Amino acid sequence: MSMAVISDWSGPNQERARRLLDSYPEKRSAVMPLLYLASLEHGYLDAPGMTQVAELTGLTSAQVQSVASFYTMYKRDHVGKYLVSVCTSISCFLMGADDVLAAIEEESTSPDGSTSADGTFSVEHVECIGACGGAPAVQVNYELIEGVTPEKGAGLCKWLRDAAPAVVLADEMQELFGSIRSFDWGSKEADGAVAPVPAFGPYGSAAKDGKS
Ligand code: FES
Repeated sequence: MSMAVISDWSGPNQERARRLLDSYPEKRSAVMPLLYLASLEHGYLDAPGMTQVAELTGLTSAQVQSVASFYTMYKRDHVGKYLVSVCTSISCFLMGADDVLAAIEEESTSPDGSTSADGTFSVEHVECIGACGGAPAVQVNYELIEGVTPEKGAGLCKWLRDAAPAVVLADEMQELFGSIRSFDWGSKEADGAVAPVPAFGPYGSAAKDGKS
């Protein structure tokens, strides 16, 4: 199919974009996964990335920006190698999430909403991430850990800094830094996340190219 020229995206991501656009009857329906791709290309969702997505989908810049600004997982500025998201909604709050957040802020040297000077961490508080039964819940690059204490939260940051895992796996982090799970997660996770931009499927996950 014909497609607007993608000036600076990598070959694999251009191919992913083509597949995405081919998989929807309407090009505009591909706007959200294309915004993930634009984030992967530039490390965050910048203005040129949104312009590119507008050209690919036929949407206006305003329409693309309205989607991008609605969802907090589209990062509009640089994020650290590890994005640590601490849920502070009611269940987690009642189970001590504020103390978990404080410990993570201190150990990572990243106050809530900021990125550490060395670019290792970004820390943010988030609304409910659907793991209330395992509160307090934390995510690293959107990989979940349940039952995190302040001590475990600090340990998690130390481990990320020292071990610098290329891929973060929920199962591994749960084993090391979590406690009570809200439910049995079932079979072990195979992939994990390799980037602080939204993962899901092949976008920023450890899944191989071409896997959908
Ligand atoms: S309130 Fe924290 S996961 Fe639901």
